Amino acid sequence: MIVDVNPFVYSRPVPPEDVVDRDAEVADLLRHAVGGHYVRLYAPRKYGKTSLLTRALHDGERSEGLIGVLVDLYRVASVADVTVRLERAYAKHLRGDLRGKVESFLQRTGVGLSLGAFGISARLQLDPARDPLPALHALLDLPLRLEASGGFRAFIVFDEFQDIGRIDGLDGLLRSHIQHQGEVASYVFAGSEPGLMRLLFETKDRPLYGSAVPMRLGRLADADLADYVARRFDASGRSVGEALNPLLALAAGHPQRAMLLAHRLWAEVAQGHEATLDDWQAAHVAAMRELEPEFDAQWRGLDASGQKTLRAITLGDGSPYRTAALRRLDLTKDVVRRALPRLAATAEIEEREAGGYGIVDPLFAAWVDRLNDRPVDDARSGVRR
Ligand SMILES: Nc1ncnc2c1ncn2[C@@H]1O[C@H](COP(=O)(O)OP(=O)(O)O)[C@@H](O)[C@H]1O
Ligand SMILES: [Mg+2]
Repeated sequence: MIVDVNPFVYSRPVPPEDVVDRDAEVADLLRHAVGGHYVRLYAPRKYGKTSLLTRALHDGERSEGLIGVLVDLYRVASVADVTVRLERAYAKHLRGDLRGKVESFLQRTGVGLSLGAFGISARLQLDPARDPLPALHALLDLPLRLEASGGFRAFIVFDEFQDIGRIDGLDGLLRSHIQHQGEVASYVFAGSEPGLMRLLFETKDRPLYGSAVPMRLGRLADADLADYVARRFDASGRSVGEALNPLLALAAGHPQRAMLLAHRLWAEVAQGHEATLDDWQAAHVAAMRELEPEFDAQWRGLDASGQKTLRAITLGDGSPYRTAALRRLDLTKDVVRRALPRLAATAEIEEREAGGYGIVDPLFAAWVDRLNDRPVDDARSGVRR
């Protein structure tokens, strides 16, 4: 049996007890939920939204008696998709008495819903012409049922909510239900694409305009990451030593990138040992090798002006309009000016507090910068070549 397992998870949401430094955000979410306010939560991909939401649901159930349901809307493409996801979310989250009550209610609606295995997905498979809309209406009204079954308040989280923006009329349909549920349910709409989230919530003629309090998830503080990483090395009979600082510098507070680098570093260090700078370099190289296909695909997903603008940002250390960079890349200011908002809409880049722009993912930024073949600055790249 393997007992010496790598304690750094980076490929899936982390369990509630492993969430670093999000206490204030969890408390905020719960305060809004208990007060019946709806929240839209924005953060780039891999910033820990799902981890945070799972923790908020967990805490909300325990400390506030909320009935938590997390609905994953990742890449939903149709009303049928949304209906299936919503039904499965209830199937996953409801337990005990309440589950029994909801199940018998669903059976009685006669629209094909069930929390068991033979639910709406199976029905749609057998009868593709079946209209999923009545089932969706019934599911969206479930919070009223939960209230009727014992005064429960539902805490419903739509994760990757921006993906409903691609389904005609769905935001209107949703609003028609939730606008009357303030007394019985609280909603969180979480999303990773600022452009689509803004379209849904900040466009005057959209149904959800102004309907939810905005919240933003930031990077993690170096001090919190340092503490977390050092503790987990210690707890597994290792010490992170001098490798910690270059790790934190490269991760730049990006939650998933920090964990990926910590995972790789840990794998370099034998039990009973302390990490060295050589270990760190090996870990860094291994991480970049692992990410190569991901970055290559990400790069190919951009058009030429997007690619060049990313390179201009790295060449100018945040200022994309430097003359030398524009010349080098055969780029004009006009092209950059048009590319910036598109890159920002998908959270490829963000405006920095200090001014200028930054690539959101620090490892992707390093990868892009390699394309520039600049004379190497060891302190900046953290890798000896
Ligand atoms: N607060 C946190 N504490 C520890 N790890 C985190 C935290 N937030 C994010 N992570 C790391 O990021 C990864 C992705 O988190 P996830 O919740 O799936 O992000 P998102 O839903 O924003 O894409 C996790 O596997 C974990 O390694
Ligand atoms: Mg997620």
